[in-house]
Amino acid sequence: MRFLITAGGTREYIDPVRFISNASSGRMGYALAAAALKAGHEVTLISAPTALKPPAGATFVTVESAAEMFKAVKEHFARCDCLIMAAAVADFTPARPSKTKIKKDGGLKLTLQLKPTPDILRWAGRQRRVCTAHRSKIVVGFALEDRNLRANAERKMRDKRLDMIVANTPAALNATTSVLHIKPIDSDWIEISELHKTASSRRIIREIERLFRQR
Ligand code: C5P
Repeated sequence: MRFLITAGGTREYIDPVRFISNASSGRMGYALAAAALKAGHEVTLISAPTALKPPAGATFVTVESAAEMFKAVKEHFARCDCLIMAAAVADFTPARPSKTKIKKDGGLKLTLQLKPTPDILRWAGRQRRVCTAHRSKIVVGFALEDRNLRANAERKMRDKRLDMIVANTPAALNATTSVLHIKPIDSDWIEISELHKTASSRRIIREIERLFRQR
């Protein structure tokens, strides 16, 4: 299979030297890329900045912002059999980033106006409905939920027309292990107890292979 995987937390620039981001380490996406490669698949990894080394054998694309990640996903989506959006994409970005470094002149309060970013995963889910060429693709999302984990994640899966959702709690952010809840569209929830992201990634890839075989 040809996998397109996103990873890391995007950076949304306020001015040329400052940005808004999140605590994502990128480990989940990188572990998924490594697991897919190990299983013999082709992998393109689109990564927001992380401290990690890209797995050998992956086509590696670096981006910073949600807008750049969206552009890169659009460029590579047609060639993939499966998109996994493991990246922590910022939901909001500065509405009018300053071209020059913002000064703290006068110590006045600074109010930042934010606007929503494009929902890349929703776009991908929709593509499969509007274009027959994309219909056989598998689209997988992640959901980070601190309340009603399974119910919220399942709603997200249906709302964004995904084949599978992987849900976890904020404890998974920037951690090497995590408890994951996987919901494939055609079967019940699978709970993966506290496991290293390398091991849970293998399980996720296996589940995707199963879904793809049924296409
Ligand atoms: O709706 P929510 O942001 O919780 O959904 C999380 C999922 O959506 C993740 O898979 C994330 O990569 C993806 N996402 C996206 N584009 C955004 C925000 C989130 O693709 N702008």
